[in-house]
Amino acid sequence: MTLVTDPTAPRIALIGATGAVGSTLIELIEERGLRYRELYLVASSRSAGRQIPVGGQTHEVRSLEDFDFGLVDIAFFSAGTSVSRAWVPAAVAKGALVIDNTRAYRMDPDTPLVVPQINYAVLDRPPGSGVIANPNCSTIPLVRVLQPVERRWGIRQVVVSTYQAASGQGHQGIEELLEGTEVALRDPDADLPSERFSPPLAFNVVPFVDELQDSGFTLEEQKMVQESRKILGLPDLDVTATCVRVPVVNSHSEAVWVQTQEPVDRAELVGLLSRQTEVTVHDAENRAAFPTPLKAGHPDHVHVGRVRVSPHNPRGFWLWLVSDNLRVGAALNAVQIAEYALARGFLSGGVR
Ligand SMILES: NC(=O)c1ccc[n+]([C@@H]2O[C@H](COP(=O)([O-])OP(=O)(O)OC[C@H]3O[C@@H](n4cnc5c(N)ncnc54)[C@H](OP(=O)(O)O)[C@@H]3O)[C@@H](O)[C@H]2O)c1
Repeated sequence: MTLVTDPTAPRIALIGATGAVGSTLIELIEERGLRYRELYLVASSRSAGRQIPVGGQTHEVRSLEDFDFGLVDIAFFSAGTSVSRAWVPAAVAKGALVIDNTRAYRMDPDTPLVVPQINYAVLDRPPGSGVIANPNCSTIPLVRVLQPVERRWGIRQVVVSTYQAASGQGHQGIEELLEGTEVALRDPDADLPSERFSPPLAFNVVPFVDELQDSGFTLEEQKMVQESRKILGLPDLDVTATCVRVPVVNSHSEAVWVQTQEPVDRAELVGLLSRQTEVTVHDAENRAAFPTPLKAGHPDHVHVGRVRVSPHNPRGFWLWLVSDNLRVGAALNAVQIAEYALARGFLSGGVR
């Protein structure tokens, strides 16, 4: 039970509470016992009036258009980039600290882009913009393994291929994959649904996530480059990505090739990664062990496997990463940001 009468506990709003990230935020707030004085669930007018149980109490979903941000101390935004662009300024103007899950403010110089395990130090003071941005779901697990490697051996280049799950496109993405799979099983020649994924995702592999940029890379690929550089504080980091959607319901995977300045010893690399907070290395002893989206283990960890130092180039190694994009890649990171902000007293004096 996390509802408390303590006047120092924050009043929290979840914008996009009915979505895939929003419902994962609710789960995590309950699981982690994040204390709150009030909890407001907010979504579009389509969901207004829906009843959602949280911590033994029923909460009615409110419409964003009618919501008064003056009621809250922390607002988590997980309702899409255009919604954040339209409504975050109103929330900040009313004094709420915004933790934004969209890409709207990630590259804003006055907005810290935070993975608490990596760059918590940027949260040494409340953000000038009133917003703390949560990175992209593929970037978070990547920087969680790159930072210790950079500190120990120095990084020359990173080449990533992602294998991204349907849940990256929210509840509708999951539904479209499941529906498309059923349709294709009944009739392999049928037209498959393709609103969220085009071409359709069922029984397919699609090397195109988000919009095409002038560079020829997609926005998802561009986000991984720009956000990794900002979080790691390495503006010239040579990192490049191919982002691929695969017919998996949840959890993103990544194949990561890292070239370092100094030669790498596999045992030392495995030991280093194993000591990172909330990172599990699967092939520390059994080289045939590896994580998959269906069976990785602790849902709040970054799972690492297939750790291979190149035999002909000890300055290069491969990693396979698996992490729950809704938790590690979105909601968990956002809740951990809130926990840090509260521990640092960002709201003391600000809690009204
Ligand atoms: N899925 C991921 O792995 C992931 C990871 C990192 C970041 N994100 C980001 O998080 C955001 C949400 O993603 P999601 O996967 O949770 O999507 P989703 O399942 O489609 O949920 C979208 C949520 O936003 C609400 N919403 C949509 N339009 C709205 C409007 N005009 N006004 C108020 N509420 C509105 C929806 O409310 P209704 O139910 O009323 O329509 C729903 O609660 C996106 O910006 C996404 O890029 C997602």
